[in-house]
Amino acid sequence: MEAMKIGEGIYWVGAIDWNLRNFHGYETEKGSTYNAYLIIDEKITLIDTVKEGFENEMLSRIRSVIDPAKIDIIISNHAEPDHSGAIPFMKNIAKNAQIYAAFGAGVKDLTAYYGDLGYIGVKAGETLSIGKRTFTFVPTPMVHWPDNMVSFMAPENILFSNDAFGQHYASDERLDTECDLPEAYIQARKYYANIVQPYGMQTGKALNALAGLEISAICPSHGIIWTKHIPEIMALYKSWVANEFDDTAIVVYDTMWHSTEAMAHAIESAFLACGMKPRLYNLHYCHNSDIIADAMTAKYIAVGSPTLNNNMMPSVASFLTYFKGLTGNKKKFIAFGSYGWGGQSPDQVYEMLATSKCEALLPAIKIAYKPSKEQLDKISADVANAIREN
Ligand code: FEO
Repeated sequence: MEAMKIGEGIYWVGAIDWNLRNFHGYETEKGSTYNAYLIIDEKITLIDTVKEGFENEMLSRIRSVIDPAKIDIIISNHAEPDHSGAIPFMKNIAKNAQIYAAFGAGVKDLTAYYGDLGYIGVKAGETLSIGKRTFTFVPTPMVHWPDNMVSFMAPENILFSNDAFGQHYASDERLDTECDLPEAYIQARKYYANIVQPYGMQTGKALNALAGLEISAICPSHGIIWTKHIPEIMALYKSWVANEFDDTAIVVYDTMWHSTEAMAHAIESAFLACGMKPRLYNLHYCHNSDIIADAMTAKYIAVGSPTLNNNMMPSVASFLTYFKGLTGNKKKFIAFGSYGWGGQSPDQVYEMLATSKCEALLPAIKIAYKPSKEQLDKISADVANAIREN
């Protein structure tokens, strides 16, 4: 396989994973890429590697440019195994290569995974000259692990951003000027919502740290490389970091005999009556990670579950667990559900949402067996009134 030339002496030498469909619970319907970059200078430098299992794809791309044994430096911007998995493999080939990682967490995490390979820790603002080029390292902790850093390379002014600005998006093209750009934005949003969202504050600090840099290209560790559309992806990140709301409302539910579903539609009507754009998701059909991507900018979230064996349905519990771990902003919530006897689920949903940075719009809404038209109309009216009052 061939390397892809990005600039003079600068190559993409990563791997394309067309088959990735799950990234620890995140449905990756478009696959992904593991981006590694090779810089040919006085000291030959490899930036990040690939996931274990893809090392030979990376190796063949490196071989299309140079003898891999000649690599002098490996920069590890992040120790998560989708980027560091092939470091021991490469160190075995490039035996004299020095491995640079973030001082503290980067060195600690790589040591935990692969043992002591003689890592060199670099601190904020530290530089590394490789000949005509110089790297400056900027820590970006929690974007997405404590060890993350980005590497800025002068004089080309390329930012190797690792997980930041990435997308789980396998494609034949490597550049934003060549790919299906709307798809890249969809996948960038889904990636932010499912990976970066809980660390919005830290991401904001990272954006501030990068604000003074003239960046000619952003080379993330997943997906396409940003060149022409840097202002657009930066603006999107700024809006996501700011936890801005739009005019959407999310209604998520599961249902047994369509009673909770009827309640979901009554709540949908209330949002419509208030000029909002509601989106309904039946958890029987929709994946948590897709809902999270839409829910990120919604001001309101309504979650409904029938009572099943004294509990909310497992699909709803799964969604709420995922939502609680990821949500980045303070939404208004509605908990609802039908029941036959017992009727615990709406209160359980309420409790989960109340401990997920969200604020209740109403007490939990419960209906026994099947809601009548009058009951559904009352739900719509009560929800609409509560929205207008908030
Ligand atoms: Fe793509 Fe946090 O690793």
